[in-house]
Amino acid sequence: MPELAIIGGTGLTALEGLQITRREVMHTPYGEPSGPLTHGVLSGKEVIFLARHGYGHTIPPHRINYRANIWALNEIGVRRVVAVAAVGGIHADLPPGRLVMPEQIIDYTWGRASTFYEEGLTHVTHIDFTYPYNAELRALMIRGCREVGIDACDGGVYGITQGPRLETVAEIDRMERDGCTIVGMTGMPEAALARELDMEYAVCAVIANWAAGRGDAGEIISMEEIERNLAAGMERVRTMLTRLVPLL
Ligand code: HPA
Repeated sequence: MPELAIIGGTGLTALEGLQITRREVMHTPYGEPSGPLTHGVLSGKEVIFLARHGYGHTIPPHRINYRANIWALNEIGVRRVVAVAAVGGIHADLPPGRLVMPEQIIDYTWGRASTFYEEGLTHVTHIDFTYPYNAELRALMIRGCREVGIDACDGGVYGITQGPRLETVAEIDRMERDGCTIVGMTGMPEAALARELDMEYAVCAVIANWAAGRGDAGEIISMEEIERNLAAGMERVRTMLTRLVPLL
């Protein structure tokens, strides 16, 4: 059974260092996942990789089949998921390039298929989501970072917007008042779906840019900037993952 599944986001459509053994095409009751599951070996253990936006990075955040992705991973016996996500930094301590293991979520998305519990129910089901991320997995990622000298932020609130456009300054101001420290587009419903299937799930966020209106006053957000910052950030993610796997 695989030790871990890694869901890669923007900037991580392939996992360097993963010795790929095979690719598995899956079909689920909810449709097709973002692509075949990539089976491989990382740090001596079996790991599964899936690119959330597809291997060619073609699926926008609101069109990802989150249910098929999580269902497929669960179906092949994955119990633990590290979800990598590119985000904007809202809090002043979270500049581009830094890694963040958030502790909480505020969901601003709408219209996404967000539960497995809606058809053919014998009773209405409400999952506990008080603490959306698995504490042990978060702690191991933080430990992995410390051991290799990566300065990661332990905690914070991940606000998830609908996208695919970035936010206005007023929207980020409101999110900051709400308590969000980072903003991204893919954290939900992925986390809730993993909880519905009782999987251990945690996010490693990589700051790609200052959120709208943060950082240098008056700057707009350029895709070149995002890509540059992500390249450096994803290198840190790979290092962290290589260290994390032996700790599991
Ligand atoms: N906002 C939302 N999602 C993002 C951002 C952002 O600024 N950067 C990377 N993903």
